Amino acid sequence: MNNKKFYITTPIYYPSAKPHMGHAYSSIASDVIARFKRINGYDVSFLTGTDEHGLKIQRAAEEQNSDPLSFCDKISQTFIDLSNTLNLSNTDFIRTTEDRHKNTVKKLWSLLQENDQLYLSKYAGWYSVSDEAYYLENEVEELDGKKISKSSGSEVTWMEEESFFFKLSDWQKPLLDFYKNNPDFIQPESRKNEVISFVSGGLKDLSVSRTTFDWGIEVPNNKKHVMYVWLDALTNYLSATNYFNNHNDFWPADVHIIGKDILRFHAVYWPAFLMAAKLPVPKQIFGHGWILSGEEKMSKSKGNILDPLELINQYGSDEIRYYLMKDVIFGLDGKINIDNLRITLNDLANNIGNLSNRIFTILNKNYECKVPQINDGYTINSDLLVDKKTIIQFIDKYELHNYTKFIHSYSSTINKYVNDNEPWNKKNNSEQNIKNILFSTLVALKNIFILLYPVMPLVSIKFLKSLNVNENEIKIDNINEKLTINDQLTKPDILFKKYE
Ligand code: MSP
Repeated sequence: MNNKKFYITTPIYYPSAKPHMGHAYSSIASDVIARFKRINGYDVSFLTGTDEHGLKIQRAAEEQNSDPLSFCDKISQTFIDLSNTLNLSNTDFIRTTEDRHKNTVKKLWSLLQENDQLYLSKYAGWYSVSDEAYYLENEVEELDGKKISKSSGSEVTWMEEESFFFKLSDWQKPLLDFYKNNPDFIQPESRKNEVISFVSGGLKDLSVSRTTFDWGIEVPNNKKHVMYVWLDALTNYLSATNYFNNHNDFWPADVHIIGKDILRFHAVYWPAFLMAAKLPVPKQIFGHGWILSGEEKMSKSKGNILDPLELINQYGSDEIRYYLMKDVIFGLDGKINIDNLRITLNDLANNIGNLSNRIFTILNKNYECKVPQINDGYTINSDLLVDKKTIIQFIDKYELHNYTKFIHSYSSTINKYVNDNEPWNKKNNSEQNIKNILFSTLVALKNIFILLYPVMPLVSIKFLKSLNVNENEIKIDNINEKLTINDQLTKPDILFKKYE
C-alpha cells in the first residue's frame, strides 16, 4: 500500500456551451501537477467533471428546446472528449446529475441541518444567473440601464423568494482563524488578502435553496426547494471520494485548482459548509489567472473564445500544454496568441529537439546506436545533473512556469556542454573522452524527458522508449541515474515540429 496519497481536482465545468481554452487551461495545469506527483511516488486521485444543475443550465437547455438532462448528456460528453484530447490522466470524471453525487449532497445537507446551520426565511436581493451568484448592493453597479456585478460584469436581477439560509455569519471568526492558522491555504499568496478582506468585512447568511425552478437536487423533506447550485457543485469533490460510505482514502483534498473568479466560493463558502458539517476541509486552494484573448477574459458571453480543439488539431496537445505552462505565469493572467505559440515551439525544437538529434546522429554513425562505454571511475560533472529538490519545490509551490522554464534552461546548459566539448571532433578529443561526453549527454537527455513528461506526456513517452525506458519507469527517482552500457537504443523520429 502506498501511503503517499495526493488528491487534486479541477473545477467542474458548466456544460452550458462547449469548452474553451480557459477550461482547458485549468485542466492542463491540474494534469501537470497530477502527473508530476505520480512520477514522484504518490498515489494520485485526479478528479474533473461537469456542474450540471441550476438556472443557467436549465435556461441553456430551454434555448435548445431540450430537456436539461439530455442537454447535459450531450455537452458533458464534449468535456469528456476534451479530457481525452488534452491527454488528462484523471482517475474519475464526475457529473453532478449522478446518484453518487446527489446522495452525498443530501447527506451534507442533513448534517448541516442536524448541526442547526440552516433555517427557512425569504431572500430578497441581486442574483446573477451567469455567475450563479448572489451579490450585495455594494457589489452591483448600473451600466447602460442594466444592473451588473462589479466583479464579473454579468447582469444581475432582483430576486425575492422563500429560501433556506445557511448561517454563514457564524463562520466569520472561525474562517479568519483558519486562514491565520493555515497561511498556505489560499494560493498564490497574492489572492489571500482579497479573501481575508471580504470575510473581515462581515458575512451575511447565505441563501442555499431556490423555489422558482426545479433543475437541481431536491432539499430533503421539502420538495418545493432545490439546493443552491454552488452548495451542490462544491460537494462534488467529496462525492467522488465516496466519503460517507467509508471509502474515504482521499479526503481532504490536497488542492483544488480553480480560476480566480471562483475563489470566494472555494475559499469562503466551501470551508464554511464543511466546518459547519464538522468535516475536514481541503488543504489548499490555488486560484490561477485568466487566459486573455486580447485584453479580456475569454468567455462565451464576450464571444472571444479560442477553441482548444482547433488549436490542438493544428499544433498537437503536448505542444499547447507546453506553451500554456511555459508562457503563462501560473497564478497571473496570460495573453495567448499564435505568433508567440510558434516562437515557443520553434525554440523547443531548436533547443531540446536539436540536442537529441545531434547526439543520436553521432551514436548512429559511430556507435551502432548503443550506450557508449565510459571509463572506470568516470563521474558525470555535477553541473550536468539535476537538483531534484529544486524541481520538487517548483511543483510544491505551484510554479508550473518555472518548472517548465527550468527544463528549457537545463537543456540549454547541456547544449552548451555539447558545443564546448565537441564530441564530433576527433582531433581535440580522445575516443574515450567522446564516449564519456556522449554518455553524460544521454543521461541529461533522459533527465530532460522525465522532467518534460508531466507537461508533454506523448513526446516524452516516445523519446524515453528510444532509451528503453517504459512509461512505468518514468520516475523522479530515476533522474541522474546512469544508463546501461552497450544498451541498444533507437534514434527517435522527429520529436518537435518547426513553424515558418
Ligand atoms: N461550474 C463552476 C465551477 C464549479 S467548481 C465546484 C464554473 N464553471 S465554468 O465552466 O464557468 O468555469 C470553470 C473554470 O474555468 C473556472 O475555474 C474558471 O475560472 C475557468 N475559466 C473560465 N474562463 C477562463 C479563462 N478565460 N481563463 C482561465 N480560466 C477561466 O465556474
